[in-house]
Amino acid sequence: MRVLVTGAGGYLGGAVVPALEAEGHRVRALVRRPADAPAHLRTVEIAPGDVVSGSGLAAAVAGCDAVVHLVGIIREARGATMAGVHVQGVRNALGAAAHAGASRFVHISAVGADTHSPTAYLRTKGDAERCVAAAGLPYTIIRPTVVFGPGGPGRNLVAELGGILRVTPFMPVFGDGRYPMQPVSARNVAAGCARALTLPAAAGRTYEAGGPERLTYDEVLRRIAAAMGRPFRPLHVPLGLIRPLLPALQHLPGFPLTVDQLTMLLDGSVCDPGPFFEAFGLTPDPFDGR
Ligand SMILES: NC(=O)c1ccc[n+]([C@@H]2O[C@H](COP(=O)([O-])OP(=O)(O)OC[C@H]3O[C@@H](n4cnc5c(N)ncnc54)[C@H](OP(=O)(O)O)[C@@H]3O)[C@@H](O)[C@H]2O)c1
Repeated sequence: MRVLVTGAGGYLGGAVVPALEAEGHRVRALVRRPADAPAHLRTVEIAPGDVVSGSGLAAAVAGCDAVVHLVGIIREARGATMAGVHVQGVRNALGAAAHAGASRFVHISAVGADTHSPTAYLRTKGDAERCVAAAGLPYTIIRPTVVFGPGGPGRNLVAELGGILRVTPFMPVFGDGRYPMQPVSARNVAAGCARALTLPAAAGRTYEAGGPERLTYDEVLRRIAAAMGRPFRPLHVPLGLIRPLLPALQHLPGFPLTVDQLTMLLDGSVCDPGPFFEAFGLTPDPFDGR
């Protein structure tokens, strides 16, 4: 297949693009600034475009058999809103895909996506899923938990937490650090995306993609620290202290947490990934802190 990948230049794109190529697909990457396209896109065709404004989308998807839609944001910045990027963005991508006669749309959502979620991220991810399901194109939705492992440039949990662990003697942990996580490898998510394109049974299905282990946040940090050869000394910050301050702190440049992110962290991110690994014939990668 010729496959348009939106958000191809990001972290997950760095795993998805090679996975598609490994399955024999030809990739066209939608990027906003072709001059800044990262190294993992060197082997593929580049198409300039923006999913929110819709510019460039029709030309980018022309001649493609399928779309893998990766575009997403974890915090609103520089005029980009969750609703704009997740909902308008997917509507535009779906419209362009349908117009071009694409026969498959693989959409990356997130575990916990829910139109009634109190967080804008998960609510707009839920709204986006509804758009995908209603569009009339054969689709597959994949909802990862938190993703780890090699990928393209861009934010990912291990790099962000590792960056803090590297410079602080004591690692701030909000609350008791026992909230559950189930990190899934970028390699596993990417292979699922690639196989979803051709697996007839995956059409019209939503899969939750988590790793093989449910870990506490503290344990995730312990493994990241161990992989870096550093000690893990948690400094548990009472929620009563951070909650009133976070609405102001989250706007400081470089502050690593928003109110929504704290809510999602405390709610945990776990799932039953059995159907995902079974459907795509994959072996779950354990979380090694890298
Ligand atoms: N990483 C995780 O742990 C995780 C977990 C669950 C779900 N997800 C979902 O997986 C998807 C990919 O995540 P990621 O970690 O790869 O994110 P990422 O590294 O931030 O990549 C997102 C990509 O989207 C592009 N983009 C943003 N706005 C765009 C627009 N208006 N038009 C075209 N491209 C645009 C960005 O391009 P620029 O370089 O131009 O900004 C970037 O390349 C997202 O939908 C995310 O919500 C990720």
